[in-house]
Amino acid sequence: MDIKTLQTDIHTALAGLQYGEHPVELYEPIRYIMSLGGKRMRPLLVLLGYSLFDDNHQKAMNAALSVEVFHNFTLVHDDIMDEAPLRRGKPTIHQKWNTNTGILSGDVMLVQAYELLLDIDSAHLKRVIGKFNRCAAEVCEGQQLDMNFEHIDAVPEADYLNMIRLKTAVLLGYSLELGGIVANANKVAADLLNGFGVNIGVGFQLMDDLLDVYADAAKFGKQVGGDIIANKKTFLLINALKLAEGKTKQALERWLSLTEFDKAEKVQAVTEIYNHLGIKALTEAKMNEYFDMGLQQLDAIEANETAKAALRAFTVQLMNRDR
Ligand code: IPE
Ligand code: IPE
Ligand code: MG
Ligand code: MG
Ligand code: MG
Repeated sequence: MDIKTLQTDIHTALAGLQYGEHPVELYEPIRYIMSLGGKRMRPLLVLLGYSLFDDNHQKAMNAALSVEVFHNFTLVHDDIMDEAPLRRGKPTIHQKWNTNTGILSGDVMLVQAYELLLDIDSAHLKRVIGKFNRCAAEVCEGQQLDMNFEHIDAVPEADYLNMIRLKTAVLLGYSLELGGIVANANKVAADLLNGFGVNIGVGFQLMDDLLDVYADAAKFGKQVGGDIIANKKTFLLINALKLAEGKTKQALERWLSLTEFDKAEKVQAVTEIYNHLGIKALTEAKMNEYFDMGLQQLDAIEANETAKAALRAFTVQLMNRDR
């Protein structure tokens, strides 16, 4: 099944989802965030994982939608935690309404993600819910570490990589594995799918960190420089702190220590330091390492070769994305 068809089917299925009516203050923000689009990558990964083993991808559609609703829930709460003004080119829910609305609409989205999962064949349900629970708890662990690191100066690269594995990558691993499980993949294949997803997920978050600094604001749809403003310990900052010397190091440390500053000025200054130190190329190299490790796991899966090629092509698209 080609990617375009799957994307169209996901779009149609999402458009048919009913989130709820009363009170409207609870459900309107959900319709808002879900209608803003985004890449819809995780449901696509579910369906591509499914397609490796079976043709009838509609069988995995509600499972795929479940992941997208869960992902959007994490974004709503993440934007509160990150004090982010923009999401997909539009005001975030807590900006447009308020923080309490973001919390509660997010909560009910998590419930709706479970509701959609109930559609899975009972032969797989218990195993899948166990995996989903584990994944969701890990996302929370990653998010907490991400916030903890804002206040720690020296975060080891390994700790950062573990943090992004948790907050971002495990959900990609889960999505692919979920598709495989619904299509009755064996355990070896399901584990490889998960490993593939986690590795490309780490690569994906490295790219997200890179785009946060270097994206074209119009395409990115999020505030460029948000990570710099918040002193997020991204791969970029961790390596800049490692490589900077003398005056450059002093300047970087000064920007990190300031509690009051002009945001645009800080973003520009820190970006110039990254440029000076060659941080972009370093991040790209790390990112490619993870994508390559993932692709090796994909190669090892015994499955439909055409469907594997579609997954490979999609991975290459991800490596070259601009939003
Ligand atoms: C954003 O995810 C959150 C991260 C894990 C970096 P996406 O980049 O997939 O966001 P959308 O769904 O396409 O907007
Ligand atoms: C997000 O990391 C991870 C989750 C949403 C769980 P970011 O905070 O970098 O994601 P964006 O950049 O806001 O999308
Ligand atoms: Mg964020
Ligand atoms: Mg965040
Ligand atoms: Mg980000």
